[in-house]
Amino acid sequence: MLHFIFFLFTFPLTKAVNNTAKPNCPTQCGNITALYPFGIGTDCSLNDSFNLTCNTSSEPPTLLLGDSNIRVYNISELEVRISTIVSYSSYNQNGYVNGLSLSWTDIRWLEGITFSKKNMFTVIGSQCSGIGCCQISIPKGLQFYNSTLDSLNNHSDVWRFNECSYAFLVEEGSFEFGGVNDLSTKYLDFVDRIESAMPVVLDWVIAPNKTCTDEVHDCKGNSSCYDVEGGGYRCNCNKGYDGNPYLDQGCQG
Ligand SMILES: *[C@@H]1O[C@H](CO)[C@@H](O)[C@H](O)[C@H]1NC(C)=O
Ligand SMILES: *[C@@H]1O[C@H](CO)[C@@H](O)[C@H](O)[C@H]1NC(C)=O
Ligand SMILES: *[C@@H]1O[C@H](CO)[C@@H](O)[C@H](O)[C@H]1NC(C)=O
Ligand SMILES: *[C@@H]1O[C@H](CO)[C@@H](O)[C@H](O)[C@H]1NC(C)=O
Ligand SMILES: *[C@@H]1O[C@H](CO)[C@@H](O)[C@H](O)[C@H]1NC(C)=O
Ligand SMILES: *[C@@H]1O[C@H](CO)[C@@H](O)[C@H](O)[C@H]1NC(C)=O
Ligand SMILES: *[C@@H]1O[C@H](CO)[C@@H](O)[C@H](O)[C@H]1NC(C)=O
Ligand SMILES: *[C@@H]1O[C@H](CO)[C@@H](O)[C@H](O)[C@H]1NC(C)=O
Ligand SMILES: *[C@@H]1O[C@H](CO)[C@@H](O)[C@H](O)[C@H]1NC(C)=O
Ligand SMILES: *[C@@H]1O[C@H](CO)[C@@H](O)[C@H](O)[C@H]1NC(C)=O
Repeated sequence: MLHFIFFLFTFPLTKAVNNTAKPNCPTQCGNITALYPFGIGTDCSLNDSFNLTCNTSSEPPTLLLGDSNIRVYNISELEVRISTIVSYSSYNQNGYVNGLSLSWTDIRWLEGITFSKKNMFTVIGSQCSGIGCCQISIPKGLQFYNSTLDSLNNHSDVWRFNECSYAFLVEEGSFEFGGVNDLSTKYLDFVDRIESAMPVVLDWVIAPNKTCTDEVHDCKGNSSCYDVEGGGYRCNCNKGYDGNPYLDQGCQG
């Protein structure tokens, strides 16, 4: 009985240090695991779309997409969670803008990586009549957005309780609107709360223009290929095998 329990506890531990990154490549950046086909450094990713950089100058180290300044929070077999960026415009009592930042996120340089339908484009401020916050879903396959904010009457009608408007993309459920509390928070504090922790979800596939029936695909031994709706494919270890299907000897029985 004791022996059996020991076995259950050791199995996931050996799996965690094995088959995550390519041999001789870093598996971690701080506490974040770089799961192949993603990889940190030269020849550690499947190709340029899966390049990562570990910024060891920051404390703790931060993982970045390619050579961009987009932070990576974590990577799974289907998804990548990255940092978001908030657009905002803030007005003073007389209707003059005293804080403005309009932003975009562009991942068109990444082949096969798109914003997930799990994200909501979130707008806070007077334009959202009534409740003060609205969320809309985004189209499938999106790789770029650019937000602008306009105010009717430069916020003069609503200034007393709402000095600022915000717009950002965020994983559904990770942001809960705090009503008047949020609207009365200093705008840079509010922006920091969102940008320091709340994720945007990306979906990833291998080779968006290929299917499993193409002669060459990247599913290694003991694994099989499956086509992904919207283009591209992914690999799964076969039944009874476990590990990373994109690595040589990655799926073990
Ligand atoms: C993974 O671990 C198993 C058992 O611990 C070992 O036999 C295998 O060679 C390892 N595979 C890789 C790619 O390191
Ligand atoms: C890494 O550590 C930070 C706190 O230091 C924590 O918030 C985060 O969830 C951890 N990430 C992972 C992938 O464990
Ligand atoms: C990805 O990393 C390789 C080196 O492994 C480098 O040659 C290439 O320029 C990088 N691509 C991007 C988009 O950062
Ligand atoms: C790396 O981290 C340092 C320290 O936080 C920061 O100054 C620098 O801008 C970061 N580099 C990138 C590419 O984000
Ligand atoms: C991935 O990161 C996001 C943002 O930090 C966090 O909400 C989520 O719990 C993390 N997921 C895992 C599996 O670590
Ligand atoms: C986003 O839109 C602004 C104008 O609202 C423009 O200045 C900026 O160049 C756009 N960004 C990109 C990447 O197209
Ligand atoms: C605010 O909006 C009103 C009406 O649109 C306009 O007349 C006024 O000049 C604006 N004030 C500023 C500071 O832009
Ligand atoms: C990335 O790798 C896949 C699979 O090998 C390939 O089909 C695709 O064209 C590659 N993309 C780039 C940008 O090299
Ligand atoms: C994949 O298809 C898109 C759209 O048809 C095209 O723009 C892109 O160049 C193709 N990429 C490759 C590697 O063939
Ligand atoms: C397939 O799985 C078996 C059993 O774990 C292992 O010995 C073998 O190396 C694997 N083959 C490949 C090509 O990964």
